[in-house]
Formats: sequence, structure tokens, C-alpha cells
Amino acid sequence: MNQPKRYTITAALPYTNGPIHIGHLAGVYVPADIYARYLRLIGKDVAFICGSDEHGVPITIKAKKEGVTPQDIVDKYHAIIKTSFEDFGISFDNYSRTSAKIHHETAQEFFKTLYDKGEFIEEVTEQLYDEEADQFLADRFVTGTCPKCGNEEAYGDQCEKCGSSLNATDLINPKSAITGNVPTLKRTKHWFLPLDKHEAFLKEWILEGHKKDWKPNVYGQVKSWIDDGLRPRAVTRDLDWGIPVPVADAEGKVLYVWFDAPIGYISSTKEWADRVGKDWEPYWKDQDTKLVHFIGKDNIVFHCIIFPAMLKAEGSYILPDNVPANEFLNLEGNKLSTSKNWAVWLPEYLEDFPNQQDVLRYALTANAPETKDNDFTWKDFQARNNNELVAIFGNFINRVVVLTDKYYDGVVPEASEFSAVDEETLAALKAYPEVIASSIERYRFREASQELLNLARLGNKYLADEEPWKLVKTDETRTKTVMFVALQIAAALATLSAPFLPFTSDKLKTILNSNSNGDDNSWHDVSSKKVLLPAGHAIGKAELLFSKIEDDAIQKQLDKLVASKKANEAANKKLEPQKETITFEDFSKLDMRVGTIIEAEKMPKANKLLVLKVDTGIDVRTIVSGIAESFTAEEVIGKRVTVLVNLAPRALRGVESQGMILMTESEDGKLVFVNPDTSTAANVPNGLHIS
Ligand code: MF3
Ligand code: ZN
Repeated sequence: MNQPKRYTITAALPYTNGPIHIGHLAGVYVPADIYARYLRLIGKDVAFICGSDEHGVPITIKAKKEGVTPQDIVDKYHAIIKTSFEDFGISFDNYSRTSAKIHHETAQEFFKTLYDKGEFIEEVTEQLYDEEADQFLADRFVTGTCPKCGNEEAYGDQCEKCGSSLNATDLINPKSAITGNVPTLKRTKHWFLPLDKHEAFLKEWILEGHKKDWKPNVYGQVKSWIDDGLRPRAVTRDLDWGIPVPVADAEGKVLYVWFDAPIGYISSTKEWADRVGKDWEPYWKDQDTKLVHFIGKDNIVFHCIIFPAMLKAEGSYILPDNVPANEFLNLEGNKLSTSKNWAVWLPEYLEDFPNQQDVLRYALTANAPETKDNDFTWKDFQARNNNELVAIFGNFINRVVVLTDKYYDGVVPEASEFSAVDEETLAALKAYPEVIASSIERYRFREASQELLNLARLGNKYLADEEPWKLVKTDETRTKTVMFVALQIAAALATLSAPFLPFTSDKLKTILNSNSNGDDNSWHDVSSKKVLLPAGHAIGKAELLFSKIEDDAIQKQLDKLVASKKANEAANKKLEPQKETITFEDFSKLDMRVGTIIEAEKMPKANKLLVLKVDTGIDVRTIVSGIAESFTAEEVIGKRVTVLVNLAPRALRGVESQGMILMTESEDGKLVFVNPDTSTAANVPNGLHIS
């Protein structure tokens, strides 16, 4: 695309069935925000659009579970999510919600237009039905085996394992998520969007048109769907939560959530335009507008195939120029999960790390899952803060500000002649806007964030080489020039950090007193202006930009995760039912003694078996025990154990076993001895440790 006239930037509308966590931030909202902030800084006309996705089955399931209405659920989480976005500086021009009137109207009008143009197939088909719940089963109301990859927990509209988009009737062994029953089939009428009809256009537009500029992960997924062959897809549902289908004979039917949600981008744009007195239409209909969708990889099919097919069928809309979908972020080696509470929730993060939004924004950007799934670890978070933000960025600024204060009472000194090193440094500085911009414009936000840090490194190296703290004793003129140059770098950092670290950028501008009289530097100024912070300008007070995060703060987060893992395991634990009752006579037949293991060795060619010599107090005997997967021979020697001594001997792999060692299972399913000396609690495995 040639120079766009304006940008419409969308970020996936989050489902309002829970708060948002670091995965959402890393995958979608931070990169989208960096992009939007950058474009505004270079003077572009930007509409950065989002809102809450308030329809869909998970919300109704949650409402049912909690005994409240779906509206209660969405009201609650809409407020929480909106606040999180504001707290983390996600600079949406508008944050709407799909329960808003303007959205219902926009979505219905969109449907009606396609309907009137004959873009739908209207068909009565057999759909999955739960007799007991008296309800059709679509989307998340039904689970089953994915026909593509065999995942047994695929949903009626999508398999999260392989990413395939499915029709509920495709599932093998479907099961109702409401009652657990096997569904029956029942006839019902729906409207289908014939994706097959748009196949040729999609092929040309994406497979030929965007082979080079779309990310390989996005392009690859789209290609494989198209190659698989596209089929008509129902865009209506038999549900009572959603937007009513706006045609006659459609009682009890609503729009499919994935039909209405992306239209939410359009209604949110309308809401914004109304509010600020603009015309929304150019943002969606003018060919000179660049439309970019920021999403996670599970949304690719909807944004690259279904929504574009809808837009194309409608006829008056532009199509996305790019869909820079991210892969997933894991947390400490495991998939982020709302239901398993394996997450770092934004409201909780802020409680534990108040005013440290930028640290999280930075850690997530520097480690963003741009090309592959990535792991968030608290240790990396700590290192990013301590070794990069504090030690490089913060340290540079602090030295410059403190020295300026000390030598010149906080007034930028006059530079005299620049040395070759000064000239080189200033030239290097001027190259940064271009370098960082080029990464951002190619959606490489990690790379961009590292370039920003390189600018701070440039500053540190300059100070370390020029040593103004030594120079000041011998050459005042030269010291002034050095400090002048260092202050220019600080000013450049204040401007160029703004997309990534908006709070820090503001703070730094306050410290440098550079935003007070409208003389704030723009992105381009950093390369083009000769002087960013002129001699004679009085800077403000020194203040730490970042502070070190100590080990105990990190350990506290790790402990939290261990606690949620344990709670989760306890909740999911399948207890064996109690065995048949035995009589006291049966019990008193058991002869149990306390013994000590005095020798142990692995049974050759048997993974599970250890051959033990046990001193039972009455004798020393051989016992073959199936514990080799839980213990090594060395670690059981000397252990005091409980032995059933009158069990009939039997041969295991040719070795006669004369008794049995009593074992039980710990909370996490590991074998532990029924130990005569200590309780099994001591055997619960250790938590996560930071070192
Ligand atoms: N709510 C969806 C999710 O969280 C994303 C919706 S994006 C939109 O996966 F296009 F539908 F708006
Ligand atoms: Zn699958």
C-alpha cells in the first residue's frame, strides 16, 4: 500500500468471561498499542479500536454456573477489563461493547444487507440437540473428538489444539457440555455463509497478494485452510443470548458470536466517530485507509477468512492490509489457562507491583511470542527489569540527571566544539527513529524494543568512555560538551520510549522538563532537529525511573502459582471409590511390622522393580517392590518402612518376594512410603524455586 491516509487499528475484542492476563497483553494489546502510539507520534491519523465481546456460549455457561444472568457477567468483566486496559496504558481511541445498542443495530444491518443481497444459504439441517436441557448444542455447548487431529476436547466451533474451525456436527463422539449427554439430532433452520463461493477471491487476495508481507505463521495457517477446501458456515444459532436474527421467521435465533464480534470493530468506530465529531466511514471504506487487525493465533481463521468474506460480500468495505497474529505465551512452562487459574491476572499484578506497568509491558515485548510460542518466567521478568531497565536505561538517565544537577544546578550546559566521538554519537542517535520505526512497521516489536535499549546502551557507553566525573576536575569546557551530548541522548530516549514505555516516557519528560511548554520533541525531531534539549533549559528533579525487583517479590509470585497448581490438582483429583467392607477378622489376619531396608538393587530389565533386603525384626528377607519409577536403589537404603510380612510369597521375574512394603500416593500422585516415623506430608514435593 502507498502512503495510507489513515489507519484503522483493531485489537481482538476480549471475551467478558474473566479478567485479562499477561497472555492477552503480550499477544494482542501491547503490540497493538505500540503500533498505535508510534503512528500517532509520527503524526498519522489513527483510530485504535476495541471493545468487549459479550456474546457467545462461554458467558452463558458461566452465568448459569454462578446463578446470575449473562448480562451480570458481562457487566462485571467489561468494567474490570476496561479498567485494566486503562491501567496499562492501552491507548484505545474507543473501547465499546457488543451489548451496546449501536452494535446490535450495526450487526443486524450488516446481516440484513447480506440477506437482501442473497449472500446466505438458508437451510434446514439436522443439528445436535440436548433433549434433557431442551436446547440445541453449538460451539462451546458441545465437545468431542476433533476429526482433524484427534484432540478429544475439541469444541463445536473450533479445535484449540490444531486450530481447525469446525461445525458441531463434525465432532466425533459429541457430548453435551450442559448435561454430559450424547446429543440427538433435530431439524432447525439456519443461515449459512458460503465460504466456498469466496474461495477464488480469498486465494487471489491472500495466497497471491499477501505471500510476502503477512507473517509466515498467519499465511501458513490460511493457506492450509484454503487448501483443505472451504465449506458453508452457519452464521446463526438457536440460543437466547446474542443479537436476534433480524429477519422474519427467526424467533429464538441469534447471530453467531463470531459473526457479530468482528462487526464490533465497526460499531466501536462509529461510537468513537460520533463522540469526537468525525465521519466513521472513511476508516472502513476508503481504499487509502490501512486496516490492521491485532489478534492471537486462535483467531486467525476468523480474521483472515470469515470476516473478510463477510466484508467482501457486503461490498462497501475495505479489507485488512495485515493481520499480525501472535503465537501463544506460556507461563512457567505451562499453557496459560483461565479455568485452571494458571495465569498472571492484570489486576493482581498491579496490586503486587504498583506503578510498574511499564516493566510488564517491556518484559512481554522483549519476550513476545511473535514467531513461536514463548514462555513467560518470573525470573526472566526480574532479569529484564534489573539488568535492562534498571541497569541500562534507568542508570543512564540517573547519571545524566544527577550530574547535570550537581555541576550545573540542573541547567543544560553550553556545548563547545564536538569531538569525533561526539559527532559519531549524535549521528548514531539520529539514526534510531528510523531503525526503531522500521522494526515497528514490520510488526517486529521485540526487535524494536531491543533497539530502544541499544540507544540507552549508547548513552552508557558514551558516559563510560568520556568520564565526565573525572573530566570535571581538569577540563570544564569539555565536560559541558559531554554533558550536553548525554542530555541529547536522554531527550531522545524520552521520545522514542513513548510507544513502549508510556508511563516512563512521561516521567522522563517531567524529569527533563521537556513537555511543559509545547516543545515536546516528535519522533521525526529526534533525527532532524539539531538540538533536542537546548543549552540554558532547566531540567526538573532527579527521580528513579525503575527500581530493582528483589528475589522475595519473585518468590512470592512463584509461590502463588504453586498454590494454584495444588488447588487445581485437588479439585481435579479422581478419588478411587472405597473397596468392599472387610471384617475385623479379615483385618487381624494382616501381620504388619516396622522394618528397615538394608540393601536395594534394580531388577535387571524391569523398569518398575527394586529387589530389597529388609530387616523385619524377625528376620532379613527379600522383597520385590514396584517402586523403581519413584525411587532409586540408593535413596531407599536405610529407610524405615511398614512391611506386611505374612503375605504369601510369590515369584517376580524369578525372584521370590516374601512380603510387601506398604505405600500410598501423595497429593500429586507420587508413591510415598507409609513411613512409621514421619507423616507423608513431608514427602510433598517442593515448590518452584527461583534459583
Ligand atoms: N473474543 C474473541 C477471543 O477472545 C476475539 C474476538 S475478535 C473479534 O478469542 F473479531 F471478534 F472481535
Ligand atoms: Zn484438532
